[in-house]
Amino acid sequence: MIVLGIETSCDETAAAIVATTPQGPRILSNQIRAQSVEHAPFGGVVPEIAARAHLDHLDAVIGRALAEADLTLAEIDGVAAAAGPGLIGGLIVGTMMAKGIAWGAGKPFIAVNHLEGHALTTRLTDDVDFPYLLLLVSGGHCQLLDCAGVGRYRRLGTTLDDAAGEAFDKTAKLIGLGYPGGPAIERASRGGDPYRFALPRPLKGRPGCDFSFSGLKTAVRQIVAERGCLSPRDRTDLAAAIELAICDALADRTANVVDWFRRHRPEGTALVAAGGVAANGQLRRRLTALAGSVGLRFIAPPPALCTDNGAMIAWAGIERLRLGLVDGLDAAPRPRWPLDTGAPQWPGAEVARRRK
Ligand code: KG4
Ligand code: ZN
Repeated sequence: MIVLGIETSCDETAAAIVATTPQGPRILSNQIRAQSVEHAPFGGVVPEIAARAHLDHLDAVIGRALAEADLTLAEIDGVAAAAGPGLIGGLIVGTMMAKGIAWGAGKPFIAVNHLEGHALTTRLTDDVDFPYLLLLVSGGHCQLLDCAGVGRYRRLGTTLDDAAGEAFDKTAKLIGLGYPGGPAIERASRGGDPYRFALPRPLKGRPGCDFSFSGLKTAVRQIVAERGCLSPRDRTDLAAAIELAICDALADRTANVVDWFRRHRPEGTALVAAGGVAANGQLRRRLTALAGSVGLRFIAPPPALCTDNGAMIAWAGIERLRLGLVDGLDAAPRPRWPLDTGAPQWPGAEVARRRK
């Protein structure tokens, strides 16, 4: 089975082709055109600029994906596109393109939940069986999920305010680092003293596995205001303090749920991380130790497949297509689309996207 996947939900214009083979899944091509240059001056994603950039570049990105895989549209089995959640302008561009190709080539169309793309990537890269415990941490989302099967997700915890990636992006902007903030903070924190500035760990030590990051942002803003301007040393130490505070919070809340997972899912073997923040080296080390302490494997996709990409959409398309889960050409893009539709909605949480 061979599927073309299109990702345009935020600020990456991406297309990929993934195939199943007797040796397991294979990424035949994975093309990404990032929009960091367009958005960098604004310190975050500007939805209108993102939509126009997708429109300008998607054609060429898909062309390159087909060329790299050395395939024609006639040789693929389905066309998948991220249909939500995300910025509606980009979602419209991606889904309309996918529907057009599907209709023209006479192939099924699969409307993929972008979060499901992140959630299933581990099965593309590491052949993980259900059930697994997932920490999904990206620019717009921060959730702990019990993954029981394709389309079967139970949300165990979520952020009450900002997402983890949003916390990286906003604090990076406050201390004068570039966008996206996560990689910028990871780079800037090298050699820094993470204990020189005391930053809060909201909800740390409390029961439950929800997250909160807005207090961290306020504390960083205050430190910056008090000091007036930051020396390079201040910036390095603050970056190290921010990275440690966010990793502490993520590890603390995840620790609260691994026991539950061990007891309720005895057949489950893995703690999985996905989404852009899962590319963070310190977080990966912390979660590896945490999983090991309770006898679980820790698995995270390679960093390039943690951040948004087309391969995760193509793979989710394969997972759905082989179960017969295809969509009509009337399937609408959805700016909000929770993975667990039964979970209570929090204002601002799960739906926030990075904005300037
Ligand atoms: O999954 P993703 O590419 O897009 C969304 O679905 O939101 O995640 C992007 C987020 C950004 O907030 C970015 O700052 C963060 O992931 N990120 C990182 C790292 N790489 C990307 N955060 C921490 N450390 C990283 N190395
Ligand atoms: Zn994402």
